[in-house]
Amino acid sequence: TATLRLGIAGLGTVGVGVVKIVRKQAALLAQRTGRDITISAVSARNATKDRGINLSGYDWEADPVALAQRDDVDVFVELMGGTDGPAKDATEAALAAGKDVVTANKAMLAIHGRDLAEQAESAGRVIRFEAAVAGGIPVIKTVTEGLAANEITRVMGVMNGTCNYILTRMESAGLPYEKVFEEADDLGYLEADPTLDVGGIDAGHKLALLSAIGFGTVPDFDGIEIEGIERITIEDIRQAADMGYRIKLLGVAQLTGRGLEQRMQPCLVPASSPLGQLEGGTNMVVIEGDSVQQIVLRGPGAGEGPTASAVMADVCDLARGIRIPTFGQPVSTLRTAPSASSVLP
Ligand code: NDP
Ligand code: HSE
Repeated sequence: TATLRLGIAGLGTVGVGVVKIVRKQAALLAQRTGRDITISAVSARNATKDRGINLSGYDWEADPVALAQRDDVDVFVELMGGTDGPAKDATEAALAAGKDVVTANKAMLAIHGRDLAEQAESAGRVIRFEAAVAGGIPVIKTVTEGLAANEITRVMGVMNGTCNYILTRMESAGLPYEKVFEEADDLGYLEADPTLDVGGIDAGHKLALLSAIGFGTVPDFDGIEIEGIERITIEDIRQAADMGYRIKLLGVAQLTGRGLEQRMQPCLVPASSPLGQLEGGTNMVVIEGDSVQQIVLRGPGAGEGPTASAVMADVCDLARGIRIPTFGQPVSTLRTAPSASSVLP
């Protein structure tokens, strides 16, 4: 069968990780999918930057939209980030040109997901976004495939590696916020705009996507009550520890008779609990379904290798002909649930 040809827009932490896997694991990917997976062309802002990888075998496209439309690209891999701008323009161009899209961009999908999923459906294409929720943990696949026969009743979790890293390192190493923030940057955890991380917004984007695929609802980022970790002090962390608790940025979503409840807030969790023991950039996602009862997934939520692993899982699905709709079911069947907090007395 034919080679699956990628066009990769964005060669930062995640894009470089994807290129490395495509090169290093070419034989394994071919064995597992039955197809060769290659890269036709790449794009980033700076054509001369040393990215520590050899890009000489790939065409360079300065314009991601042009990359998305190339005849020698079957799957457009969007790893630039940003809610609007080139990420959205190029994704739309790819769909219109008949390409499937793989993206790690939770910000774009949490805000424009319904619209983009509709465009994908009209074009007979799919958008896959495993890397967008909890980095290396295959949470989307777990919900859409592994738990396909369940009515999902609740999803919750720690889904921002930066915040978890900051909160745990401040406590365990007694380091100031600024120093720990630099470490998270070195590990490739941070969003281009890190206020998205510490403000709880990035984790909120992920919760909106997880709710959508779990409950079959239109992504509703605006319906999430969000509070970040900016106001958490080392004293708060120490006082919590003295009482046997840790502070975690925890997201919870459930569909009740009143509508969809979604919260992303710093919470006290018992230090001895699985959530309390999560260290560094690790994420934990808890999914509850009527038949399965409870699933707990734990793993790296950010960084080059883990995130690229999730991007490539989507690429492998497409190579195998697995074409699940963007939110796990057709857009016309997604419910628009009222935001539960807005109907509280
Ligand atoms: P980086 O900031 O490291 O990389 C972004 C890349 O996009 C850079 O190569 C940049 O080019 C390129 N780029 C930005 N704007 C343009 C543009 N206008 N035209 C062409 N190229 C552009 O980001 P990450 O790799 O960390 O993240 C990428 C995506 O993955 C984001 O959506 C992020 O939210 C998501 N994500 C990231 C994770 C992580 O752990 N880092 C985990 C999960 C998801 P240049 O290098 O030349 O500046
Ligand atoms: N900035 C994000 C985090 C990257 O820290 O979790 C992974 O989505």
